[in-house]
Amino acid sequence: MRAMCTVSAFLAINTARQRRSSHHPAHKLAQGTTLSSQAANRHTPHSDSIMAARATVIVFSLVLALAFAGGASAKLSAGFYSRSCPGMLAAVRSALHPAIAKERRVGASIVRLFFHDCFVQGCDASLLLDDAPGFQGEKNATPNKNSARGFEVIDAVKAAVEKACPGVVSCADVLAIAAEESVVFLGGPSWEVKMGRRDSTTASFNGANNDIPPPTSGLANLTSLFAAKGLSQKDMVALSGAHTIGQARCTNFRDHIYNETDIDAGFARSRQSNCPRTAGSGDNNLAPLDLQTPTVFENAYYKNLVQKRGLLHSDQELFNGCATDAQVQGYVGSQEAFFKDFVEGMIKMGDVTPLTGSSGQIRKNCRRMN
Ligand code: HEM
Repeated sequence: MRAMCTVSAFLAINTARQRRSSHHPAHKLAQGTTLSSQAANRHTPHSDSIMAARATVIVFSLVLALAFAGGASAKLSAGFYSRSCPGMLAAVRSALHPAIAKERRVGASIVRLFFHDCFVQGCDASLLLDDAPGFQGEKNATPNKNSARGFEVIDAVKAAVEKACPGVVSCADVLAIAAEESVVFLGGPSWEVKMGRRDSTTASFNGANNDIPPPTSGLANLTSLFAAKGLSQKDMVALSGAHTIGQARCTNFRDHIYNETDIDAGFARSRQSNCPRTAGSGDNNLAPLDLQTPTVFENAYYKNLVQKRGLLHSDQELFNGCATDAQVQGYVGSQEAFFKDFVEGMIKMGDVTPLTGSSGQIRKNCRRMN
């Protein structure tokens, strides 16, 4: 049976409504403006000028808001540390490369840390803060608990960078550059990472629980959680391609392999062999997100999706007879197109509400505030 395309269904309903109401002038007014029907009846030249003034104020505020948002991300730049820490990249690589060479999965784990950081309060290293007496961090929120990993490698990278240039490079930037370097190390594309982020002195446990999409999400929910961070549905599909590397725990895909029909039967059976049906048993047993090459960054994730071999429910939602099928097919046909859109998505995600200028601080140790 075909999945119900909630996003398309929503659009279809609205389009139908619009079509219906376009035969009805009163409805049309009520829909297109905030005027009530009573106000519409009192329509005068005076109300016209009030409306015009209101519109000017709204447009002006929008321009201001855009300028402000642009200003915040405009402060990030690829050459941010070229004078203050010219040895930064070499220091990052000196600690990161041996760690990934030793355990390739940790490259995937670091890419995921960057995503989970940026989705909560923006890319400010809030995720890296440890819980402490009187301070609740994000590490024990549902999407991260027993799951987010690679923190020791970030510590090692930060220590190497601190040795090269003490007190200069933020943990948020260390995470951003480590994510890019991990993708490259595993065979993916490279890009110029914009820097100049500063580190938060706060974290948000609730933000981590509410803003990071769960693997049970449908397409509409995935789309709206990304939209809440200024990322499009296209960005969401391209960024999900990060699931071409790394592992997931049985608890996150059990329902999909036992109870759902949008999955290849043979693939479901093979995953069931290491993920018992009963909740609570084998919850942390691992399976690769890309069954063939989980330590190589390429477009295999999308090839799996068109064969109904997405491991998570949310993965298969991207190719399920709905609006994003064509984009997935496009990436199956062109790894180049995937890489281009993935890079664009990572740069956009790295721009999510960073702390800049004199906000926040440059933590010495990523696990605690100075
Ligand atoms: C679209 C919504 C997304 C959902 C619902 C989702 C969900 C998940 C889940 C449930 C896991 C397995 C965690 C575990 O079992 O412990 C996982 C792993 C992973 N995710 Fe996502 N994810 C999404 C998007 C992303 C994005 C945007 C990125 C990065 C750009 C990403 C990168 C990764 C990586 C690399 C892993 C493997 C980590 C490891 O092996 O340690 N994910 N994701």
